[in-house]
Amino acid sequence: MKVREILVTSALPYANGYIHLGHLVEYIQTDIWVRAMKAQGHQVTYVCADDAHGTAIMLKAQDNGITPEEQIATVKASHEADFAKFLINFDNYHSTHSEENKEFSELIYRRLSSAGHISTKDVEQLFDPEKQLFLADRFVKGTCPECDSPDQYGDNCEVCGTTYNATELKNPQSTLSGATPVLKTSKHYFFNLPEFEQFLKDWTRSDNRLQTSVANKLQEWFEASLATWDISRDAPYFGFQIPDTPSDEPDKYFYVWLDAPVGYMASFKNLCDKRAGTEQALDFDHYWAQENEHKTEVYHFIGKDIVYFHALFWPAMLAGSEYRTPTGVFAHGFLMVNGEKMSKSRGTFIKAETYAEHLHPEYLRYYFASKLSDKVEDINLDLEDFMQKVNSDLVGKVVNIASRSAGFLVKKYDGMLSEVCVESELLEDITKTGDEIAAAYENREFSRAMRLIMQCADKANEYIDAKKPWSLAKLEGTEQEVQDVCSVAINIFRQLMVYLAPVLPELTNNAKEFLNLDDLSFASRNEWLLGHKINKFKPLMQRIEEKDIEAMVEDSKASLTQADAPAATESSKPAAKDKAPATNADAEQTDYIGIEDFAKVEMKVAHVLECNHVEGADKLLQFTLDVGEDKPRNVFSGIRKFYEPEQLINKKVICVTNLAPRKMKFGVSEGMVLSTGEPKTGLTVVTLPDACVVGDVLA
Ligand code: 2FM
Ligand code: ZN
Repeated sequence: MKVREILVTSALPYANGYIHLGHLVEYIQTDIWVRAMKAQGHQVTYVCADDAHGTAIMLKAQDNGITPEEQIATVKASHEADFAKFLINFDNYHSTHSEENKEFSELIYRRLSSAGHISTKDVEQLFDPEKQLFLADRFVKGTCPECDSPDQYGDNCEVCGTTYNATELKNPQSTLSGATPVLKTSKHYFFNLPEFEQFLKDWTRSDNRLQTSVANKLQEWFEASLATWDISRDAPYFGFQIPDTPSDEPDKYFYVWLDAPVGYMASFKNLCDKRAGTEQALDFDHYWAQENEHKTEVYHFIGKDIVYFHALFWPAMLAGSEYRTPTGVFAHGFLMVNGEKMSKSRGTFIKAETYAEHLHPEYLRYYFASKLSDKVEDINLDLEDFMQKVNSDLVGKVVNIASRSAGFLVKKYDGMLSEVCVESELLEDITKTGDEIAAAYENREFSRAMRLIMQCADKANEYIDAKKPWSLAKLEGTEQEVQDVCSVAINIFRQLMVYLAPVLPELTNNAKEFLNLDDLSFASRNEWLLGHKINKFKPLMQRIEEKDIEAMVEDSKASLTQADAPAATESSKPAAKDKAPATNADAEQTDYIGIEDFAKVEMKVAHVLECNHVEGADKLLQFTLDVGEDKPRNVFSGIRKFYEPEQLINKKVICVTNLAPRKMKFGVSEGMVLSTGEPKTGLTVVTLPDACVVGDVLA
């Protein structure tokens, strides 16, 4: 087998907030992949760092009355402690506020600049006259220029979904000081992304670098055309100064997103320096020089919200500065808890630290693994299902195999396993399944890997149930058989430990001791344990108790005060001015509801018995609807501008029947008639075919 040399990264967490379960999806996914690839014999290096720059971090430090350097040092220590608890095994964890990162960011910028890929332009922006700083979009709120909804951020409206520039907001206010911002112009530096259009079109479509859905999303961005990217920020800013700017002009800083991905290189370089001269020495250029693009592999694991930065800006920056580009960028979806967006009030916005105070991190690693695939899909942590699954799969199926058979072997046979395997077909089958499991890990189909592993566990339990060693042991002359049966069980358990090691490193490490083994690599499973001595079995995992989950949820409610909540960050989406027009990237930021919430809405087929104008109401039509109940319903709808009543009489429409009755000036409205379109530009009532049966529920 050719040993592959692979460098892997996870996205760099911002240095102004704590790690929560949403973050952990990615670190756990990456860590499992890295461990699985290492277990298959590859040389894998996993690096990460804190993303330490930007206005948000500078302001957070001010709020805390400390310097940004102190702020980022404290947060880094807490991030590292959290990652360690969840067994995230980085080879190096660094910071973007580092010497290495400064050097690479400057070098990349200078190379881009001398190749003509940087330009400058005056930009008019909102400026907070009290705080004396330019306001990033997330620090401005005002009224949506499109739909007049108040209290909207400076990049897009959460009510109507329109994307705009902060300068277009009506009645803007600085969220930092409450002051009314003023317009101010300054010179900005831009990366000329459109110059890389052809390169990016080829890059994103070749060599399976991206998931299909991501490649399709990029296609939309190409069609909407690429724009130059604003990479500079004015002082005051916490970051690196842009080099070589005219000395008679104010200092400029790299926008945090310029030096953030460079942090991947910086962390790796830092590791190369640490390991220089050791057996594990790494050569920076071997991984990053353009000519080595096909010798080594570089993979970035990221969330779906930062695809734009990793699949467009970053490869273009690398190509433009003569570095190699990533072999693959793997995006994952967001985490839902109990079918809904994580919520502080429901206690489902759970810090890594709070979780770990109540529950073993390996439970979560296993649950995430059982949900993760190679798709960009959101995953749901259903707390009830989480408890059931862990208890039934890990405790009930896997650990049970060892606890049922180890006792006999240790007590009666001094821990010795039989010299021969009496069920070689079964064991061969499970050994062979290992190839499929290894492939599933490599392809990031972890849920498939977990399913295959549990099928193996089922086979082992069926075998033990059929042989009943506990009954056999009571009979005369069955000593050999009992030893043989238990030895088969222990051998299968060993295979399962090999298969689960990437997900459950601590449990499998403890199992190593019990199994008296020092290797759980994938290849090790081919050598069965014959005439091998095991040690006394100690319980490897406790069941999850409902009370622990409840306590964690309660603690989460209590621990998340406003002051503690993650601060606003530099928009993780490209600002409106940096990016192509609104795309589904925005749709993906939707405030999701779970299926349970959706299921609460009852919609029925309704027959319009009457439809009338309403005197004194120039926007409303009044409906009398038969929805299959004893009495017709009275419903008002704001569609008068678009319909004459006659057009709707006798039609079949959709009525929301469990909306709370609303008392209006003209009577009580007992439902809602569904329409499409916009109240401003035109609404079309959704009508159904005549064949639809009145009172039937829409599902
Ligand atoms: O979205 C975020 O949380 C960023 N801090 C991720 C940066 S990833 C990389 F580019 F540095
Ligand atoms: Zn709006």
